Amino acid sequence: MQTWVAPGRVNIIGEHTDYNDGFVLPIALPLVVRCAAQARADGQVRVVSRQRPDETVLVPVAELAKRRDGVPGWSRYPLGVVAEFVRRGHRISGVELELDGAVPIGAGLSSSAALSCAVAIALRDLFAPAVTDRELIDLARAAENGYVGAPTGLLDQSASILCTAGHALFLDVRRFAAEAVDADTNSGAHEQIPFDLARFGLELLVIDTGQPHELVDGGYGERRAQCEAAAAKLGVSALRDVDSVAALARITDVVLRRRARHVVTENARVLTVAEKLRSGADPRAIGPVLTEGHASLRDDFEVSTPELDAAVAAALAAGAHGARMVGGGFGGSVLALVDRERTEAVVADVRNRFARAGFAEPRTFVVGPAAGAHRAD
Ligand code: GLA
Repeated sequence: MQTWVAPGRVNIIGEHTDYNDGFVLPIALPLVVRCAAQARADGQVRVVSRQRPDETVLVPVAELAKRRDGVPGWSRYPLGVVAEFVRRGHRISGVELELDGAVPIGAGLSSSAALSCAVAIALRDLFAPAVTDRELIDLARAAENGYVGAPTGLLDQSASILCTAGHALFLDVRRFAAEAVDADTNSGAHEQIPFDLARFGLELLVIDTGQPHELVDGGYGERRAQCEAAAAKLGVSALRDVDSVAALARITDVVLRRRARHVVTENARVLTVAEKLRSGADPRAIGPVLTEGHASLRDDFEVSTPELDAAVAAALAAGAHGARMVGGGFGGSVLALVDRERTEAVVADVRNRFARAGFAEPRTFVVGPAAGAHRAD
């Protein structure tokens, strides 16, 4: 068997902007899903996961679509990717997939895209070598949207496939979505921006609150629908087209106006942060912008939780340069930009605050911009 790996991601800034045709700025995490795979000749897909040792899933390729509802939830991600290759006309003679995931699940760090993308690059190499990276992203996302039923945007899969070590990935989602998927031409829609934390004595600390979030649940889909409704009220195809908060005064519904304000200000924050990093400035300069992003997700988009707010407040009080919740929200993790020598103190203060509030003990780890999906051996 050969092995492929695909990473989770953390978004530096640009949350809930991807499905509004906007901008995002993720890095790949040093945490990956490993997929050992080999072709089978008997038309069967067999999937096992090191995290689910008691569940072996065996489904004929020809029955993937029909059997969707009868398989364990986690296996829908790999099976969905196989089904999507088949749906796009690729011949899969059967495949053996052995999964081992180290991306925390439900932490807002994109464990699901890491899983889908690890399987997708394995299948490409084994059965469809002409498939481009661009198409792989499209395919992995279609599998999650269609087979799993998670209405995600393009952020997670793009990050897992395209990110490179030492860089943040700037992605203009509208331009990216408009590119042809059968060629890996970069129309300027994505850019690798050097993101060197060590040189400035900085670290990115992830604080996983342990409150799982679920994209298949209602909150994420409801936010998407509200953004679409706000865009319709303004007569634009997506909130990406709105570049000033003043223009939102025409939305009379206060909730829709707040949702839209988050997206408009968040897109501006992505452009600001990207520009600061491009200029080679000390990344401490992006800290306040990250913290503003948190306030916007908390107050305007209303996807934060008391645990996430407490982690942000404690990190800032302990000297973080900026902190914000990451991912879809309703649980998951906080990202904090900290001086390397303050990391331990920040962790201790966050833990204390959680203990005092009676919250479960958070998990913390330091991350840096790692490589995107690739074959590991
Ligand atoms: C989830 C989705 C992404 C994106 C983020 C919020 O991670 O999968 O497409 O919308 O939430 O930025």
